[in-house]
Amino acid sequence: MRMYDLIEKKKRGEALSREEIFEMITLYTKGEIPDYQMSAFLMAVYFRGMTKEETALLTEAMEHSGDTVDLSLFGTRSVDKHSTGGVGDKTTPVVAPIVAAAGGVVAKMSGRGLGHTGGTVDKLESFPGYRTALSPAEFTAQAEQCGLVVIGQSADLAPADKKLYALRDVTATVNSIPLIASSIMSKKLAAGTRSIVLDVKCGNGAFMRTPEEAKTLARAMVEIGTANGRRTAAVITNMNRPLGHAIGNSLEICEAMDVLRGKGPEDLTEVCLTLASLMISLSCNKELAEARRTAEDMLESGKALSKFEEWIAAQGGDARYVRDPSLFGRATHTRDVLAEQDGFILSTNAEALGTAALILGAGRATKEDTIDPRAGIILHKKPGDAIQKGDVIATLYTERESALDTAEKAVTAAVVQTDKAPDPEQLIFDVITEATL
Ligand code: URA
Repeated sequence: MRMYDLIEKKKRGEALSREEIFEMITLYTKGEIPDYQMSAFLMAVYFRGMTKEETALLTEAMEHSGDTVDLSLFGTRSVDKHSTGGVGDKTTPVVAPIVAAAGGVVAKMSGRGLGHTGGTVDKLESFPGYRTALSPAEFTAQAEQCGLVVIGQSADLAPADKKLYALRDVTATVNSIPLIASSIMSKKLAAGTRSIVLDVKCGNGAFMRTPEEAKTLARAMVEIGTANGRRTAAVITNMNRPLGHAIGNSLEICEAMDVLRGKGPEDLTEVCLTLASLMISLSCNKELAEARRTAEDMLESGKALSKFEEWIAAQGGDARYVRDPSLFGRATHTRDVLAEQDGFILSTNAEALGTAALILGAGRATKEDTIDPRAGIILHKKPGDAIQKGDVIATLYTERESALDTAEKAVTAAVVQTDKAPDPEQLIFDVITEATL
């Protein structure tokens, strides 16, 4: 195989064969295809696309480029959830204990935050002692005992995707549906669960800006999962605004625990219940309406909160913080951002708010940066809320006093006010399952 010929073929819009795709991925993973040729190929895919068959083959080739996790001992009960990335997206710490309390097995790997989006692993590390790296034996043992384990992404899982994603990031080829779908699904398939629920974010804080684009991506991923024998579903959710009010690691953990205590924000609670219902339906073989009742019962009875505490303790975290969230403490410097006029909040720019939180210390501008678990933003007002001049729209938390002015300006610019009450926005745009493909 000559890489030159594959680039030429894709440039003409032709489909690659199974052998060509597998050989290309194997050689690229081994470092035998240079980045400049792979970049040219990715750009050809960006413009020419890939057929469903090619996308499925690319996924399979990347899935098998490294280790795969065997969760077969859990039968049909293992289930994973993946979010395409957002701001204030703290669904995993809520959804995972609801599902585990209902009988599903959530044994998953999660990412760290980069750029304006947060990562579950960084949030969980707000608990002193929480171990994000476990040996394969520890991972399986905890899944067996607790039904719930969440660790950081293993470097040996889908290494081809890791290399390709880094290349796409610097060659303006991230935003391609076959490339995103195969990237996400190769990791989910390698992670071994029988069922997969995808939260496809859509809006100004997400990769997919419109519900139509998000639906196309969601369908592509549900098709790949189904073709690979996994029960797969996707929910398309609004990311024109942060989910809930908190942005920043321990702030988000506290809000997630509020949901588990039955006093969380409505939007976050609803998205979590929707995701949890689908996960319970797929992993515990229940009709969706029954799964929803089960999810609600796990919240209302306190069983999900007990499961959360059990999980954090099992993974080495200090469970006293679950019982007393004030132990997380508060950042040294705070500032209230005030409304400049009477009216309503028209919109919020989720990406800009995520970036403001990063400036305050809640995220990383480069992979090497350390994050401050207490830094971030509480957004008190959201689109549709009435405001009066001088109301507190947001509170900023940081150890970096010098960052406050810049972050305040960014938050003020990110929150757009209006005179008239805006039309309510949809929270959940669609649910895509195997049956609705
Ligand atoms: N997340 C991924 O893992 N891959 C992509 O291509 C985009 C988002």
